[in-house]
Amino acid sequence: MTNEAARPQKPGMGEAPADFVRIVEVTKHFGESTAVDSLSLSIKKGELFALLGSSGCGKSTLLRLISGLTLPDSGRIIVDGEDITLLPSYRRPVNMMFQSYALFPHMTVEANAAYGLKREGRAKEEIRERVAAALELVQMGKYAKRKPHQLSGGQQQRVALARSLVKRPKLLLLDEPMSALDKKIRQQTQFELGHILYSVGVTCIMVTHDQEEAMTMADRLAVMSDGRIVQMGTPHQVYETPTSRFAAEFIGSTNLFGGVLDGDESRSFECADLANPLQVPNAMNAKKGMVAQLSLRPERITMSAQKPHKDSNWACGKIEQYAYMGSYTVFHVRLDGGRLMMVDLSRMAVRALDPAPDYGDTVYLSWDADCLVVLTK
Ligand SMILES: Nc1ncnc2c1ncn2[C@@H]1O[C@H](COP(=O)(O)OP(=O)(O)O)[C@@H](O)[C@H]1O
Ligand SMILES: [Mg+2]
Repeated sequence: MTNEAARPQKPGMGEAPADFVRIVEVTKHFGESTAVDSLSLSIKKGELFALLGSSGCGKSTLLRLISGLTLPDSGRIIVDGEDITLLPSYRRPVNMMFQSYALFPHMTVEANAAYGLKREGRAKEEIRERVAAALELVQMGKYAKRKPHQLSGGQQQRVALARSLVKRPKLLLLDEPMSALDKKIRQQTQFELGHILYSVGVTCIMVTHDQEEAMTMADRLAVMSDGRIVQMGTPHQVYETPTSRFAAEFIGSTNLFGGVLDGDESRSFECADLANPLQVPNAMNAKKGMVAQLSLRPERITMSAQKPHKDSNWACGKIEQYAYMGSYTVFHVRLDGGRLMMVDLSRMAVRALDPAPDYGDTVYLSWDADCLVVLTK
C-alpha cells in the first residue's frame, strides 16, 4: 500500500527549497461557488506532486489557473521566481496535458509531437532533433510514422506526453493523465510514466482522483476537498499519519473510533463501542474528557484464536464475512458490542492461523499502540 520506493528521491532533492512553484492564497469563484479557496502550495524543482481529491473539489480549476486558461480572483502564482499570475497562457513556461489527451488523428506520431514547436516557428532541423529525442524518451521512436489509431491507449498516452515534453516546459501539468486507460494498462502506465518523468527531471503537478495512482507516482501529494488542501506530505506520511478523518478515509480504508481521554496526561481513550480502552503511544497533553477520533488501519491488526494478555488495544468478535483478495484477505469482524471492524491479513498471516478462520468463528483482534493515529480534525 505505502510506496516510498516507487519513485526514488532524486539526489539532493530532499534539501532543495520548496519554492520552485509557489501558489499563494489563490482563490477562484464561479458565481456563488468557490472552486479554489485561498489555496497555498509550494513545490520543489524536479518534484512530481499529485493533487488528489474527489470529483468537483477544484483540481482541474487549479491546473487551469496555473496554465493561464483561467485567471484567479485573487492570489499569486510564481514559477522559477517569475510572477505569472496574469501572464497570457502562451507566454507561461508551463505545459498542460489534458484529461482527454486527444492527438490529431490525421497526423503521424512525429507530426503530433512536432506540432507545438512548429507553432513556435522553430527551425526544421531543431524540430526534427527535439521530436526524435522526445519520442525516444517515451520509447515511441520506432512508431514515429504511425497514426494514432494504429497505437494502443497506453502508446497514445506516451505520444501525448512527448508532445508536452518536447516544448521543455519548466512545469508540466497533467490532468487525470490515465483516465482514458483501462485498469490493467493504467497500472503499468503509472510506473512507466513515473519513470519517464523521473528521468527527465521535469517538475510536474499531476491531478488524479485515484489514490493508487497518486501514491505510485508522486514524491508528495495533497489531499483536496472543497477547493482547499486538507493534508499534504509524502504518500507514506499521509497514509501512516493522517491528520483528519477526511484524509484517513480518502487514502486507503480505516477503522475509526470516537474516544474520550480517560485522565489528564493520559495515554488511554475510552470508546463507547469497544470493551477495552485504546492506548496511544504517547501521553496526550490534554485534559481528561477530551474527545478525539482515532484511526486504525485494517492491515495493522492481528487476529488470533487466543485471548491476548493485555488490558488495552484488543477486541473480541465473530467473523461475519471475508473476501480473498489474492495477496491478502479482508475480514469483517462483528465485535461483541455490535461494531464492525475491518481486518486485512496477509497470505502468510492467514496461513499461520490454526484452525483456519471461518464464518462465525470467535476471534481476538489486537494491535500495538503505535498503530493508532489520533486525528486532530
Ligand atoms: N467554467 C466553469 N464555470 C462554472 N463552474 C465551474 C467551471 N469550472 C469548474 N466549475 C465548478 O468548480 C468546481 C470545481 O471543478 P473542477 O476544478 O473541474 O473539479 P475537479 O477537477 O476536482 O473535478 C465544480 O463545482 C465545478 O462545477
Ligand atoms: Mg477535473
